Amino acid sequence: MGAHQDTRIVVTGAGRGIGAALARRFAAEGARLVVNDLDADAARAVADELGAVAVPGDAASEHGVGELISKARTALDGPVDVYCANAGVPTGGGPEAPEADWAQAWEVNVMAHVRAARALLPEWLERGQGRFVSTVSAAGLLTMIGAAPYSVTKHGAFAFAEWLSLTYRHRGIHVHAVCPQGVRTDMLDGTGAAGQLVLTPTAIEPEKVADAVLAGIADERFLILPHPEVAEFYANRASEPDRWLGGMNKLQRRLEDGKA
Ligand SMILES: NC(=O)c1ccc[n+]([C@@H]2O[C@H](COP(=O)([O-])OP(=O)(O)OC[C@H]3O[C@@H](n4cnc5c(N)ncnc54)[C@H](O)[C@@H]3O)[C@@H](O)[C@H]2O)c1
Repeated sequence: MGAHQDTRIVVTGAGRGIGAALARRFAAEGARLVVNDLDADAARAVADELGAVAVPGDAASEHGVGELISKARTALDGPVDVYCANAGVPTGGGPEAPEADWAQAWEVNVMAHVRAARALLPEWLERGQGRFVSTVSAAGLLTMIGAAPYSVTKHGAFAFAEWLSLTYRHRGIHVHAVCPQGVRTDMLDGTGAAGQLVLTPTAIEPEKVADAVLAGIADERFLILPHPEVAEFYANRASEPDRWLGGMNKLQRRLEDGKA
């Protein structure tokens, strides 16, 4: 018997990267899975490999989330036990980034989680159980240079996960915030010079993130840090904000020098 034997699990953005690694890891533990991705072919390929059900589509819009959860309920023949809100977009730039980019980052990185919780909570509260796994990012605890929409919305995702946890933990709702730094996926490849500078040197494989998630669930830990050193950075940010900002600004200047 696996640790998640017959558990009904939905993973969003699971056609590749961290989501696919999570789906594989849960499947190895006996879970019954729904694999979601906007990229239908990618979702189907992972689902076929795992003997799971693909439910392609948008895991962010109100309509998309509603469809996903209702199709998952049917496919899994019962309520969703674990929802992994993993799909995300790595929107870069600063205030000058187009309105549409800011809006998409907000939709996918934050509202997708809010809408899933809205759809799942009534049944979870009635059953007195449910687990929400939010793939945030270390950028949600710290920040990512060169990517204001990503940093701001990942802070939002982290805040929402915290809020869910503190509001419902006495009612059987378990929440986890997964906050990795660099992970070797297509997303990392697209982060350009800033990613090369701050993420690539310590990047880990998506399978290591999945291992950390399973361990975090087993230990019932809210904060899951696949890169343990992030705990120290997070503490430094809180205790010495100006020193921490100075250090981050040094990275920013290194990035600018590299471009010059
Ligand atoms: N790769 C990293 O370095 C890193 C670090 C920290 C956090 N994260 C977070 O991990 C999560 C997964 O990232 P990844 O690195 O595996 O990225 P990835 O780009 O490899 O995979 C993301 C998948 O999500 C899908 N997706 C995007 N928007 C969607 C939507 N609205 N509905 C359904 N699917 C959608 C994409 O089609 C893609 O297949 C993201 O939330 C990301 O922000 C990644």
